[in-house]
Amino acid sequence: MKMNILVTGSKGQLGSELQELSARCGSQQFFFYDLPELDITSHDLVDHVCREHGINVIVNCAAYTAVDKAETDVETAYRVNRDGSAVLAACAKEHHALLVHLSTDYVFNGESCTPYRENDPPTPLGVYGKSKWEGEERIRQIAPSYLIIRTSWLYSAYGANFVKTMLRLGAERETLNVVVDQIGTPTYAADLAAAIVTIIENYDPDNQYKETYHYSNEGVSSWYDFAVAIMELSGLSCRVVPVESAQYPQIAPRPHFSVLNKSAIKQDWRVEIPYWRDSLAGLLEKIRPPVQE
Ligand SMILES: NC(=O)c1ccc[n+]([C@@H]2O[C@H](COP(=O)([O-])OP(=O)(O)OC[C@H]3O[C@@H](n4cnc5c(N)ncnc54)[C@H](OP(=O)(O)O)[C@@H]3O)[C@@H](O)[C@H]2O)c1
Repeated sequence: MKMNILVTGSKGQLGSELQELSARCGSQQFFFYDLPELDITSHDLVDHVCREHGINVIVNCAAYTAVDKAETDVETAYRVNRDGSAVLAACAKEHHALLVHLSTDYVFNGESCTPYRENDPPTPLGVYGKSKWEGEERIRQIAPSYLIIRTSWLYSAYGANFVKTMLRLGAERETLNVVVDQIGTPTYAADLAAAIVTIIENYDPDNQYKETYHYSNEGVSSWYDFAVAIMELSGLSCRVVPVESAQYPQIAPRPHFSVLNKSAIKQDWRVEIPYWRDSLAGLLEKIRPPVQE
């Protein structure tokens, strides 16, 4: 069945990957919106867009994602991540739409030493994680049918991210300090976008869903390992030096361990998840500048 799908935050990393993918996916009708046209905190605007396009599925890629800035810009972080989620949940209810919402590994405090499962108790350390957790909770309270997908360490060809920062600094510097004691898994936003499309193509509109899932690429990495792989795979000679978080103070506290257990999404939706290094190689190949003749 052809769905009318609203993608919010469509100019961000994940939203842009969904836009790229939608061009190759004629079976669904996508509608892409971002600021300033569609602010997810405005019920009137979201309601209008849902009504205009007869929306069946909302994919919420909009978020306040500046983890450090959120510590001082608390009000905006909560307004977007908590209150915006509530608005989308209310509109999903009013329009009988499925809400696919993205959340984060930063809802966990990192004290686990085994990959986090969906029902492990969230104890976010910073404002970003707290605001995202409260957004999840609003959706659980309001939306009759929702899929919350927590992901981690997102990167893409679009927008600003760790991979692009490493490529820039790796070309400028001979050495680079990168934290080695924060462990997680990078996620290529194009892989996550493909998983979301798979879910939308296979969900049953007559069912109500109330599920939380985890999705990252396969495998485990520290930011240090991630940086080393970026240098190796892109042929940069910059030497990456492992440092502890204490030697590299950041404004927001971050979990030391946030590997996500992905069994549920793999089992329920049969999504194939690539190994993080393979996906990274794919992205680097895609953005590699053409060789000058
Ligand atoms: N990035 C990561 O490493 C990471 C990790 C784990 C989970 N996630 C989650 O994954 C999802 C997608 O992340 P992403 O990296 O694609 O985010 P992103 O690149 O920061 O994109 C978010 C988009 O939402 C827009 N936006 C902000 N406030 C809005 C509002 N009030 N109404 C409508 N749009 C608004 C942003 O616009 P402006 O740029 O103009 O503000 C931006 O275009 C988010 O839910 C995020 O929390 C991300």
